[in-house]
Amino acid sequence: MNEQLAYEDAIMQDAIRYVKEAGKLIMDLINMPLHIQEKKNQSDLVTEVDVRSEQLLRGQITRDYPTHWILSEETDGGREDSHHTLLEPPAGYGWIIDPIDGTINFIHSLAHFAISVGIVRDGLPICGVVYNPVTDELYAGRKQGGAYVNGKPIQVGNEQELSQALLATGFQAIDWKPNSVVVEQIGRMTGIVRSVRILGAASLDLCLVASGRLTGFWHDGLYPWDVAAGLVILQEAGGAITNAAGRPFVLSDNTLIASNGVLHQYLISMLK
Ligand code: IPD
Ligand code: CA
Ligand code: CA
Ligand code: CA
Repeated sequence: MNEQLAYEDAIMQDAIRYVKEAGKLIMDLINMPLHIQEKKNQSDLVTEVDVRSEQLLRGQITRDYPTHWILSEETDGGREDSHHTLLEPPAGYGWIIDPIDGTINFIHSLAHFAISVGIVRDGLPICGVVYNPVTDELYAGRKQGGAYVNGKPIQVGNEQELSQALLATGFQAIDWKPNSVVVEQIGRMTGIVRSVRILGAASLDLCLVASGRLTGFWHDGLYPWDVAAGLVILQEAGGAITNAAGRPFVLSDNTLIASNGVLHQYLISMLK
């Protein structure tokens, strides 16, 4: 194994260890009374558990990898440029963290939330780890190294027809209003695809496409921490992930369309 591969292998193993520790912390706190704060509106929330999970992850990374940069939701999310930080990504290794993806689900004790950690080298996502501490499912993917759930290889589904497609989407906080774009898009899918779900944790939704449980997922206005990890996992599982124009998705893109690949062009044209 060459030196870079061995180094990145060690990073990946550490990332798995860190998310499991964060998962344990979250599960220890899940039944405590939560202090819930609104950010942009009533669907954009943060709890002290999000913050503590993020502190734990940042602490481990800073200690073990002091030369790597970190971008994380609760530290960097307030910065105007955070959505576009990766237009000109810093060189070297970086960690992109969502300490709880699916905060609303976490607050309501719905078992669909995760810790999402993506690792990039010179701006390109190379590893992803997404861990649901309730179901104890850990998805991991490594550029040219495959995608796994709890160590078992995964791949996207084989649905060939829109009528067989189970899709998911979600609302960005600012689109949580009457006549939102998403509601109109779901309307277009109605009666054509098998069904549409709104599950509420983008990182896990991408992993569900990667493991063939969903056929596709689309979403506008996600942040790098929602996507960085799931992107690698989905690609390594054989899926397609593009922007609305069908070009390979990059972390600064606004619209994300992910699928099993087979139905990708249809989804792009339906969402135009
Ligand atoms: C949210 C989730 C949700 C998506 C929202 C995100 P958060 O992340 O990924 O599925 O629809 O747009 O903001 O705030 O729970 O980390
Ligand atoms: Ca959030
Ligand atoms: Ca998120
Ligand atoms: Ca979050």
